Amino acid sequence: MPSRITDASVEAMLTREKALFLQRNPKSGTLADQSSKHWLRGVPMHWMVDWGTPFPLFIAKASGVDLTDADGNSYVDFCLGDTGAMFGHSPRALAETLRRASEDGFTTMLPSPDAPVVGELLAERFGLPFWQVTATASDANRSVLRWCRAITGRKKILIFNGCYHGAVDETFVSLANGRQIADPALIGEPRDLNELTKVVEFNDIAALEAALSPSDVACVLAEPVMTNIGMVLPDDGFLAALRAITRRTGTILVMDETHCMSSGPGGYSGASGLEPDAIVLGKPIAGGVPAAVYGFSDEIAQRIRAYLATRTPGHSGIGTTLSGSKLQLALMRTMLETYFTREAFAPLIELAKRLEKGIADVIIKYGAPWHVVRVGARVEFMCSPDRPRNGGEAARIIHQPVDMAIHHYLLNRGVVITPFHNMMLVCPATTKAHVESLIQGLDHCLAELV
Ligand SMILES: Cc1ncc(COP(=O)(O)O)c(C=O)c1O
Repeated sequence: MPSRITDASVEAMLTREKALFLQRNPKSGTLADQSSKHWLRGVPMHWMVDWGTPFPLFIAKASGVDLTDADGNSYVDFCLGDTGAMFGHSPRALAETLRRASEDGFTTMLPSPDAPVVGELLAERFGLPFWQVTATASDANRSVLRWCRAITGRKKILIFNGCYHGAVDETFVSLANGRQIADPALIGEPRDLNELTKVVEFNDIAALEAALSPSDVACVLAEPVMTNIGMVLPDDGFLAALRAITRRTGTILVMDETHCMSSGPGGYSGASGLEPDAIVLGKPIAGGVPAAVYGFSDEIAQRIRAYLATRTPGHSGIGTTLSGSKLQLALMRTMLETYFTREAFAPLIELAKRLEKGIADVIIKYGAPWHVVRVGARVEFMCSPDRPRNGGEAARIIHQPVDMAIHHYLLNRGVVITPFHNMMLVCPATTKAHVESLIQGLDHCLAELV
């Protein structure tokens, strides 16, 4: 019999924890006041206030999994910059490369000797032969969409309802009561994005088949596991069906592995034997310094070459000045050599399994109507008894006040998990003791809530 978590118990916890937050963080409060004079919403990036705390914590230092805020409070970080610091903050090998790179120049508009090595490492790890560098995963996705449209001559793309692929206009389309709508929250979008995008539910093979069968879609842009609306796992056979249908309809399959890189050194695609035509890797690929890459198959490379041979000269709309820089290549080389290896991933995955099991045990202990999922080193608990099978179902579960109460409770006890949902990452600096502290924090939190 599941326990009940009442609105009253959630509200009481949130009220008390907000008061405690104010008490613990006077210096962050002062910094927030000062920052509000010159930063939009008081922060250098407007979503930083969306954590839901009375004001943002101001972080003075981040090293490994240790965060120290302006008031001197310490935290164990399981958010890890929402994957940007998936291998820890300032991991030693990266810090050393950065120190050396600081003597050698950052950007020259020309390749560095690291280029062939990084290309080889990417090809070897992720199984695709050709690569390009961008500054962010959003940029990489935008570039891939352009190439796909150019070489197929098709205007539309297809995405899954509830996905997130960064600041990529065409992906802000969703399903509401079975109808496709452009996201009204998107700022300053003059186009009707419905003309550029088709959207279907994840795990819905029939809908996918119907949407792709006119052969008018340039590419499917997808995460192999949806990770931005809680976590939605693919049903058995769904990704294989996606691959087969895209092949049959001449649609390019792009796997955005920016978050699913937590699966192992070749991402989820590598671990599952999926053979996408293109892959996007962002966030941790240079350890949290702005860099991303996209890779593509031999066949796509040939089509790109053929397209380029007939293209009108001029600006391509692909590529920015700081992309492919000397600094990015040096850092990516270190990350790929040091952290994107089976040996580096094995202990992370073991520890993540312990976290998953510990949370599952706490859920059972209190009969909480929750569940927990894991993708490699990434763990997420969702406050519903059943796993959502698609973005529509997941949207009805996440962003509940209970998430906010849990986040405040943990923050005030020195544990950070990812805002907006309940995601936790394990990195090389995470210890068993850190994992146990999070499990214990959740245990105590649930003891109060149920
Ligand atoms: C799957 C996925 N792709 C792309 C992005 C965009 O990354 P960035 O904000 O670094 O451009 C995100 C960001 O959360 C993401 O989750």
